[in-house]
Amino acid sequence: MTDHPLAIAAPAKINLYLHVVGQRDDGYHELDSLIAFAGIHDTISLEPAAAVELTVGGPFADALDGEGENLVLDAARSLAARCGVEAGARIHLEKRLPVASGIGGGSADAAATLKGLRQLWEVAMPEAAWAELALDLGADVPICLHGRAAYIGGIGERIDAAPNLPATAMVLINPGVAVPTPAVFKRRSGPFGRPDRLGSEAPTSIDLATALASRGNDLFDAARALEPVIGEAVDRLAAAGGCLLARMSGSGATCFGLFADRESAAAAVAVITGERPGWWIVATELLSTTEGHSAETARY
Ligand code: C5P
Repeated sequence: MTDHPLAIAAPAKINLYLHVVGQRDDGYHELDSLIAFAGIHDTISLEPAAAVELTVGGPFADALDGEGENLVLDAARSLAARCGVEAGARIHLEKRLPVASGIGGGSADAAATLKGLRQLWEVAMPEAAWAELALDLGADVPICLHGRAAYIGGIGERIDAAPNLPATAMVLINPGVAVPTPAVFKRRSGPFGRPDRLGSEAPTSIDLATALASRGNDLFDAARALEPVIGEAVDRLAAAGGCLLARMSGSGATCFGLFADRESAAAAVAVITGERPGWWIVATELLSTTEGHSAETARY
């Protein structure tokens, strides 16, 4: 017997590096990216109900588009259709992550919804069918469902295990601008990058930052051209004491800084918040897995 409501954490995903390595005939871009997760997350809670219903709360609730746009509902409806489920679910999304911001909030929410409904509706499918359903919902949903640091290839459907990454203090900044993913991909120009997986394990945060120093985010220039403030966010992180590496995640606009320790991460948050009070700035940590996240409370 499962306790209700079920609460499932939907952690932010972080593209530690992101190379755009080609483009398919259908316009989607092929990527090579190392993805890990953050300690901060949205939360999906689910209870049995006659129909599928969604309520949204939390600091970014108002930023979501209309109900019909919500990936949580899309995930629930696709799973029900696929498995012939007639039951519903009362779903609540606590939205703590900025919307449309390169850290996969909507994708993480969709993946957490699939995980929760798998338990609530007691549905079983082969792993490949879950992966296919996830990819139909969005290119980042399979990695969020996978829930462990991994390299992704193709448009996000190829997932290869990555070595364990060191838990690392991290600061996330969203400078309050939305850059739509299709617009950023469209703006990207120049030759394609090449796949460039890390050659060896990175046991410490310094090793990780050193390995990532020669790898970047191939969408950064395009996103910064659309919203120059994204460049400012990366520069401010990079200039903070104790920052080991600063980059944009995904197609932006959220940027992350890896830090030597929690103290320097907290100090950076204090300084940058003082200078840019309108920005969303949080101290959190980089994690290799979404397991062990408490869905009840954010870790910081
Ligand atoms: O799949 P998702 O909804 O995340 O993608 C949004 C848009 O971003 C796509 O319609 C496409 O224009 C672009 N995109 C892309 N290559 C990817 C992922 C997204 O071109 N790998």
